[in-house]
Amino acid sequence: MGKRKDRREKAQRFAAIARMAAQPKLAEKRAEKRAVPGHQDVALTDELLTSSAHLAGLVSSDRRELTKMKKFRFQLLCQWISTHREPGRVADVGGGKGLLAYLLQKSGWLATVIDPFAQSLPAKYKDLESGRQIRIGEDERVPRLNQAFQPEMAEQFDLLVAMHAHGCNIQMIDAALEYGCDLILLPCCVIHEPILPPPGVHWIQWLVEYVIEKGFVVEPFRLNFKGQNIGIYARMGAKA
Ligand SMILES: C[S@@+](CC[C@H](N)C(=O)[O-])C[C@H]1O[C@@H](n2cnc3c(N)ncnc32)[C@H](O)[C@@H]1O
Repeated sequence: MGKRKDRREKAQRFAAIARMAAQPKLAEKRAEKRAVPGHQDVALTDELLTSSAHLAGLVSSDRRELTKMKKFRFQLLCQWISTHREPGRVADVGGGKGLLAYLLQKSGWLATVIDPFAQSLPAKYKDLESGRQIRIGEDERVPRLNQAFQPEMAEQFDLLVAMHAHGCNIQMIDAALEYGCDLILLPCCVIHEPILPPPGVHWIQWLVEYVIEKGFVVEPFRLNFKGQNIGIYARMGAKA
């Protein structure tokens, strides 16, 4: 009887851990299902980029430039940020496991992940310069707020970054304006956003216009990985 109870308790514990491990993926799938229909299907073609006064410069004449896999996006964005800014206080909003924040922390930034789903850092990543796999020690940490982004969180940061983040792009732009932060957005799908582009307008194109309307100086950029690789760098000026 005692052994059976023991086995049952172990099985219950195992099932609970397996459920927790699966949670972010499940949550993402649910979120994808709630994505707004009619906006995802506006393809971000070279033609559309060319027609946009702000994005035309991103059309690549040589597609072979985009060689890296999507999984290297964190390393590439960290490199981009390091070459464009001096380290400061950065929030990696919707940062998932936190690899971008970890890499920024290693480059001298005070980095914090803001994401409602608690997740651990990955065990390793590839260093793109040396080509070597780098282990992340089990005791290494990046500060995390396991909460949905709230505008007042912006007060603590100089830079808000969101790569493929859900549900917080518009909130981040408005918060950056209110609290005097700069912004880097690599938007993907339109999920849980309070306002939407009109039908037929691509989400990224529309966000660029929204950010410019708010008075930010905008520098769109494109990273060398396959997938949604367009970034919007929006600057407000120095924080007091
Ligand atoms: C597609 S994942 C991207 C994760 C990571 N940035 C990456 O590139 O792999 C979207 C992330 O947004 C997070 N998220 C969803 N709603 C959010 C919110 N309101 N505030 C902050 N993060 C949110 C999800 O938990 C998820 O980790």
